[in-house]
Amino acid sequence: MLAPVILAASRSDKMRRFVSAAPGTKQVVERFIPGETVDQVVPVVQEAVAKGLEVTLDVVGEDITTPEQAAAARDAYLDLIAHLKDLGLGTKAEMSVKLSMFGQALDGGHELALANVRPVVEAAAAIGTTVTLDAEDHTTLDSMFAIHDELRKDFPQTGCVIQAYLFRTEDDARRLAENGSRVRIVKGAYKEPAEVAYQDKGEIDKAYVRITRILMEGAGYPMIGSHDPRLIAISQELARRAGRKLDEYEFQMLYGIRSEEHVRLAAEGHRMRVYTAYGTDWYGYFMRRLAEKPANLLFFARSTLTK
Ligand code: FDA
Repeated sequence: MLAPVILAASRSDKMRRFVSAAPGTKQVVERFIPGETVDQVVPVVQEAVAKGLEVTLDVVGEDITTPEQAAAARDAYLDLIAHLKDLGLGTKAEMSVKLSMFGQALDGGHELALANVRPVVEAAAAIGTTVTLDAEDHTTLDSMFAIHDELRKDFPQTGCVIQAYLFRTEDDARRLAENGSRVRIVKGAYKEPAEVAYQDKGEIDKAYVRITRILMEGAGYPMIGSHDPRLIAISQELARRAGRKLDEYEFQMLYGIRSEEHVRLAAEGHRMRVYTAYGTDWYGYFMRRLAEKPANLLFFARSTLTK
């Protein structure tokens, strides 16, 4: 019941100001977003790699309103890639990007987002790593998939995300599995209407399994983005049945969530990639994490009220 309210609040400027100013917010935000700058996140990356994990880095930010902000987002990623080059981590550190941050929602946004993301994908390829396009709300997805297709002409390793809660996703999965893409499957984190998305958790889980089967049986590289122990076990079984070796798919989880499980799966020989977000514009990302688990809201309220 609470999740839709929190997701609605994630779009409100008034709530953004309130949450950002609340005492105790910083401490809770740090659980999910371990730094505001590249220099703060680099040791987190090094620590993860030392534990046998891999990472995908997200410079947080999405609700930009000017082309200048979109260019600044592109430059933030280029700066990140320059730092990663010095660390020599190859594909152990890849990047996740939200096209809204690259200007997708502005006038002429499709072309602008493509123009901004291309140099990031090029720079990533030049240091031997890759970029995955995150999935945002359903109205943005046709544009995201078109940009993904366009980028893959020159950089076939570019990945994208699909969301199990959307009715359209089984078709998207079939197309992507056939053309050999890197695809991250997630449940979906936005507030979507009943016309386009399952609302029931059980239905979403069943769709997740159907879609994962399509990806595992296809020609691409599946990336299982979930913390759900049942779906992780089912995905392992689907991979085994499809004859995939351990390096022919990977698991992905978010920084700060079920961290012991990251290490356990890596120790079993799985590729485990931790989605690690950093930056100052953390509000939207943080609110989606609160919405996923109402207990987080209690933790947040408690630390705010005890300050
Ligand atoms: P579920 O929500 O059922 O959680 C399973 C268990 O994990 C919970 O019982 C709890 O123990 C733990 N857990 C999950 N979320 C938690 C939280 N916030 N705090 C504390 N514990 C939590 N979505 C999207 O729309 N577009 C995208 O591009 C991405 N990208 C992405 C990348 C990666 C690597 C991951 C793991 C997830 C995403 N997501 C996403 C988010 C995704 O859609 C979904 O909202 C979350 O992963 C939560 O769903 P689970 O599959 O973990 O299951």
